[in-house]
Amino acid sequence: MERAAQEQELAGLKMEGAGFISHEGRAYSEEENAVWKLLCERRMAKLPETACEAWLEGVEKLKMPLDRVPLFDELNANLRPLTRWELRAVNGFIPAEMFFGSMAKRQFPSTLEIRPMDRLEYLQEPDIFHDVFGHVPMHTDPVFADFVQEYGQLVTELDDRDKFDAMARLWWYTVEFGLVEEAGQVKLYGSGLMSSFGEADNVFDGGPEIRPFDLDEVISTPFRIDIYQPIFWVAEGFDQLRDSVQELRRRWAEELTN
Ligand SMILES: [Fe+2]
Repeated sequence: MERAAQEQELAGLKMEGAGFISHEGRAYSEEENAVWKLLCERRMAKLPETACEAWLEGVEKLKMPLDRVPLFDELNANLRPLTRWELRAVNGFIPAEMFFGSMAKRQFPSTLEIRPMDRLEYLQEPDIFHDVFGHVPMHTDPVFADFVQEYGQLVTELDDRDKFDAMARLWWYTVEFGLVEEAGQVKLYGSGLMSSFGEADNVFDGGPEIRPFDLDEVISTPFRIDIYQPIFWVAEGFDQLRDSVQELRRRWAEELTN
Protein backbone atom coordinates (compact mmCIF):
# COMPACT_ATOMS: atom_id res chain seq x y z
CA MET A 1 0.00 0.00 0.00
CA GLU A 2 1.06 3.49 -0.74
CA ARG A 3 1.13 4.36 2.90
CA ALA A 4 2.00 7.96 2.15
CA ALA A 5 -1.07 8.37 -0.05
CA GLN A 6 -3.28 6.71 2.52
CA GLU A 7 -2.00 8.98 5.22
CA GLN A 8 -2.52 12.00 3.01
CA GLU A 9 -6.20 11.17 2.51
CA LEU A 10 -6.99 10.07 6.01
CA ALA A 11 -4.54 11.69 8.32
CA GLY A 12 -4.44 14.80 6.21
CA LEU A 13 -1.60 16.92 5.02
CA LYS A 14 -0.54 18.53 8.23
CA MET A 15 -0.88 22.00 6.90
CA GLU A 16 0.52 24.76 8.99
CA GLY A 17 -2.39 26.40 10.77
CA ALA A 18 -5.02 24.00 9.43
CA GLY A 19 -8.04 23.73 11.66
CA PHE A 20 -11.58 24.85 12.28
CA ILE A 21 -12.57 28.24 10.98
CA SER A 22 -15.75 30.29 10.93
CA HIS A 23 -18.03 29.64 7.99
CA GLU A 24 -19.61 33.04 8.37
CA GLY A 25 -18.76 35.73 5.93
CA ARG A 26 -17.75 33.35 3.13
CA ALA A 27 -19.70 34.76 0.21
CA TYR A 28 -19.63 32.92 -3.09
CA SER A 29 -19.03 34.63 -6.40
CA GLU A 30 -21.29 34.19 -9.41
CA GLU A 31 -18.72 31.89 -10.94
CA GLU A 32 -18.43 29.75 -7.79
CA ASN A 33 -22.21 29.38 -7.64
CA ALA A 34 -22.21 28.49 -11.34
CA VAL A 35 -19.64 25.73 -10.67
CA TRP A 36 -21.87 24.23 -7.94
CA LYS A 37 -24.93 24.41 -10.22
CA LEU A 38 -23.12 22.78 -13.13
CA LEU A 39 -21.74 19.98 -10.93
CA CYS A 40 -25.19 19.33 -9.45
CA GLU A 41 -26.82 19.28 -12.89
CA ARG A 42 -24.30 16.77 -14.17
CA ARG A 43 -24.58 14.45 -11.18
CA MET A 44 -28.35 14.77 -10.81
CA ALA A 45 -28.74 13.59 -14.39
CA LYS A 46 -27.67 10.15 -13.11
CA LEU A 47 -28.06 9.96 -9.32
CA PRO A 48 -31.86 9.56 -9.17
CA GLU A 49 -31.30 6.14 -10.79
CA THR A 50 -27.97 5.21 -9.22
CA ALA A 51 -27.88 6.68 -5.69
CA CYS A 52 -29.28 4.95 -2.61
CA GLU A 53 -32.54 6.17 -1.12
CA ALA A 54 -30.91 7.57 2.02
CA TRP A 55 -28.74 9.94 0.01
CA LEU A 56 -31.57 11.04 -2.31
CA GLU A 57 -33.90 11.59 0.62
CA GLY A 58 -31.09 13.37 2.47
CA VAL A 59 -30.81 15.98 -0.30
CA GLU A 60 -34.55 16.63 0.09
CA LYS A 61 -34.50 16.69 3.89
CA LEU A 62 -31.61 19.14 3.93
CA LYS A 63 -33.33 21.27 1.28
CA MET A 64 -29.92 21.42 -0.28
CA PRO A 65 -29.82 24.09 -2.98
CA LEU A 66 -28.68 22.70 -6.31
CA ASP A 67 -28.35 26.04 -8.07
CA ARG A 68 -25.85 27.74 -5.74
CA VAL A 69 -23.33 26.83 -3.05
CA PRO A 70 -25.23 26.01 0.17
CA LEU A 71 -24.53 27.91 3.36
CA PHE A 72 -23.63 25.89 6.45
CA ASP A 73 -26.22 27.62 8.64
CA GLU A 74 -29.10 26.65 6.37
CA LEU A 75 -27.97 23.02 6.11
CA ASN A 76 -27.27 22.76 9.84
CA ALA A 77 -30.73 24.08 10.66
CA ASN A 78 -32.16 21.08 8.82
CA LEU A 79 -29.52 18.50 9.77
CA ARG A 80 -29.29 19.02 13.54
CA PRO A 81 -32.93 18.12 14.32
CA LEU A 82 -32.63 14.94 12.25
CA THR A 83 -29.49 13.27 13.60
CA ARG A 84 -27.71 15.86 15.78
CA TRP A 85 -24.92 16.14 13.22
CA GLU A 86 -23.63 19.50 12.03
CA LEU A 87 -21.16 20.86 9.53
CA ARG A 88 -18.04 22.66 10.70
CA ALA A 89 -15.79 24.61 8.39
CA VAL A 90 -12.09 23.77 8.11
CA ASN A 91 -9.33 25.38 6.09
CA GLY A 92 -7.81 22.46 4.24
CA PHE A 93 -6.64 19.09 5.51
CA ILE A 94 -6.73 18.88 9.27
CA PRO A 95 -4.71 16.50 11.45
CA ALA A 96 -6.18 13.02 11.95
CA GLU A 97 -6.92 13.53 15.65
CA MET A 98 -8.95 16.64 14.85
CA PHE A 99 -10.71 14.97 11.90
CA PHE A 100 -11.81 11.85 13.77
CA GLY A 101 -12.35 13.68 17.05
CA SER A 102 -14.78 15.88 15.15
CA MET A 103 -16.65 12.83 13.78
CA ALA A 104 -16.90 11.44 17.31
CA LYS A 105 -18.70 14.67 18.28
CA ARG A 106 -21.06 14.48 15.30
CA GLN A 107 -19.37 17.39 13.61
CA PHE A 108 -18.55 16.91 9.96
CA PRO A 109 -15.49 18.92 8.90
CA SER A 110 -15.86 20.48 5.45
CA THR A 111 -13.89 22.93 3.42
CA LEU A 112 -15.66 26.10 2.25
CA GLU A 113 -13.77 26.19 -1.02
CA ILE A 114 -15.08 25.03 -4.37
CA ARG A 115 -13.12 23.78 -7.37
CA PRO A 116 -12.47 26.27 -10.17
CA MET A 117 -14.48 26.14 -13.40
CA ASP A 118 -11.47 24.86 -15.37
CA ARG A 119 -10.97 21.84 -13.08
CA LEU A 120 -14.47 20.40 -12.73
CA GLU A 121 -13.44 16.77 -12.82
CA TYR A 122 -9.93 16.53 -11.49
CA LEU A 123 -9.21 17.38 -7.92
CA GLN A 124 -6.37 16.46 -5.63
CA GLU A 125 -8.09 17.43 -2.44
CA PRO A 126 -11.75 17.47 -1.44
CA ASP A 127 -13.73 20.63 -2.05
CA ILE A 128 -17.14 21.68 -0.72
CA PHE A 129 -18.86 19.76 -3.52
CA HIS A 130 -17.24 16.52 -2.38
CA ASP A 131 -17.66 17.26 1.33
CA VAL A 132 -21.18 18.66 1.32
CA PHE A 133 -22.90 17.22 -1.77
CA GLY A 134 -21.03 13.90 -1.48
CA HIS A 135 -21.00 13.24 2.26
CA VAL A 136 -23.61 15.26 4.10
CA PRO A 137 -26.90 13.85 2.77
CA MET A 138 -25.92 10.44 4.20
CA HIS A 139 -25.72 12.01 7.65
CA THR A 140 -29.49 12.49 7.64
CA ASP A 141 -29.85 8.69 7.91
CA PRO A 142 -29.97 7.79 11.62
CA VAL A 143 -28.10 4.49 11.28
CA PHE A 144 -25.42 5.89 9.00
CA ALA A 145 -25.12 8.91 11.31
CA ASP A 146 -24.46 6.61 14.28
CA PHE A 147 -22.03 4.52 12.26
CA VAL A 148 -19.82 7.51 11.44
CA GLN A 149 -19.88 8.78 15.01
CA GLU A 150 -18.95 5.37 16.42
CA TYR A 151 -16.29 5.06 13.74
CA GLY A 152 -14.75 8.41 14.77
CA GLN A 153 -14.92 7.48 18.44
CA LEU A 154 -13.11 4.18 17.89
CA VAL A 155 -10.36 5.80 15.82
CA THR A 156 -9.70 8.37 18.52
CA GLU A 157 -9.09 5.50 20.98
CA LEU A 158 -6.51 3.67 18.83
CA ASP A 159 -2.80 3.74 19.46
CA ASP A 160 -1.76 1.04 17.03
CA ARG A 161 -0.67 1.69 13.46
CA ASP A 162 -2.15 -1.55 12.05
CA LYS A 163 -5.51 -0.87 13.63
CA PHE A 164 -5.47 2.64 12.23
CA ASP A 165 -4.75 1.19 8.78
CA ALA A 166 -7.68 -1.21 9.17
CA MET A 167 -9.97 1.69 10.07
CA ALA A 168 -8.63 3.76 7.15
CA ARG A 169 -9.57 0.95 4.78
CA LEU A 170 -13.00 0.62 6.35
CA TRP A 171 -13.56 4.37 5.80
CA TRP A 172 -12.31 4.23 2.24
CA TYR A 173 -14.42 1.27 1.13
CA THR A 174 -17.59 2.46 2.88
CA VAL A 175 -17.91 6.21 3.51
CA GLU A 176 -15.90 7.14 0.42
CA PHE A 177 -16.59 4.32 -2.05
CA GLY A 178 -19.36 2.21 -0.58
CA LEU A 179 -22.22 0.51 -2.39
CA VAL A 180 -25.43 -0.78 -0.84
CA GLU A 181 -28.06 -3.22 -2.03
CA GLU A 182 -31.63 -1.95 -2.30
CA ALA A 183 -34.44 -4.13 -3.65
CA GLY A 184 -31.92 -6.38 -5.37
CA GLN A 185 -30.08 -3.51 -7.01
CA VAL A 186 -26.64 -2.08 -6.33
CA LYS A 187 -26.80 1.60 -5.38
CA LEU A 188 -24.17 4.22 -4.58
CA TYR A 189 -23.68 5.81 -1.17
CA GLY A 190 -19.94 6.59 -1.02
CA SER A 191 -19.17 10.30 -1.24
CA GLY A 192 -16.37 9.72 -3.74
CA LEU A 193 -18.96 8.21 -6.07
CA MET A 194 -21.61 10.86 -5.49
CA SER A 195 -19.23 13.69 -6.27
CA SER A 196 -17.41 12.12 -9.22
CA PHE A 197 -18.37 11.46 -12.81
CA GLY A 198 -16.26 8.78 -14.45
CA GLU A 199 -15.72 6.64 -11.38
CA ALA A 200 -19.43 6.35 -10.61
CA ASP A 201 -20.20 5.37 -14.22
CA ASN A 202 -17.39 2.85 -14.08
CA VAL A 203 -19.09 0.99 -11.22
CA PHE A 204 -21.94 0.02 -13.52
CA ASP A 205 -19.83 -0.65 -16.59
CA GLY A 206 -18.66 -4.08 -15.48
CA GLY A 207 -15.07 -2.93 -14.98
CA PRO A 208 -14.54 -3.28 -11.24
CA GLU A 209 -15.14 -6.34 -9.13
CA ILE A 210 -18.23 -6.01 -6.93
CA ARG A 211 -18.38 -8.19 -3.83
CA PRO A 212 -20.74 -8.57 -0.87
CA PHE A 213 -19.50 -6.59 2.14
CA ASP A 214 -17.01 -8.58 4.17
CA LEU A 215 -15.35 -6.81 7.08
CA ASP A 216 -12.20 -8.93 7.06
CA GLU A 217 -11.67 -8.49 3.34
CA VAL A 218 -12.23 -4.75 3.59
CA ILE A 219 -9.81 -4.12 6.44
CA SER A 220 -7.08 -6.21 4.82
CA THR A 221 -7.30 -4.69 1.32
CA PRO A 222 -4.96 -1.74 0.69
CA PHE A 223 -6.27 1.04 -1.51
CA ARG A 224 -4.90 3.61 -3.91
CA ILE A 225 -6.26 7.10 -4.26
CA ASP A 226 -4.83 7.72 -7.73
CA ILE A 227 -6.72 5.11 -9.79
CA TYR A 228 -10.32 3.99 -10.32
CA GLN A 229 -11.11 1.52 -7.56
CA PRO A 230 -10.78 -2.07 -8.83
CA ILE A 231 -12.98 -3.57 -6.06
CA PHE A 232 -16.16 -2.37 -4.37
CA TRP A 233 -18.07 -3.95 -1.49
CA VAL A 234 -21.87 -3.90 -1.31
CA ALA A 235 -23.41 -3.58 2.14
CA GLU A 236 -26.75 -5.21 2.94
CA GLY A 237 -27.69 -2.05 4.81
CA PHE A 238 -26.12 0.63 6.96
CA ASP A 239 -26.59 -1.39 10.12
CA GLN A 240 -23.97 -3.75 8.69
CA LEU A 241 -21.50 -0.85 8.74
CA ARG A 242 -22.38 0.15 12.29
CA ASP A 243 -22.09 -3.50 13.33
CA SER A 244 -18.66 -3.72 11.74
CA VAL A 245 -17.34 -0.89 13.94
CA GLN A 246 -18.80 -2.59 17.00
CA GLU A 247 -17.24 -5.88 15.90
CA LEU A 248 -13.79 -4.29 15.62
CA ARG A 249 -14.21 -2.60 18.98
CA ARG A 250 -15.06 -5.95 20.55
CA ARG A 251 -12.22 -7.81 18.84
CA TRP A 252 -9.63 -5.25 19.87
CA ALA A 253 -10.91 -5.09 23.42
CA GLU A 254 -10.65 -8.89 23.61
CA GLU A 255 -7.07 -8.74 22.35
CA LEU A 256 -6.20 -6.52 25.28
CA THR A 257 -7.62 -8.93 27.81
CA ASN A 258 -5.97 -12.04 26.25
FE1 LIG B 1 -14.54 12.28 1.47
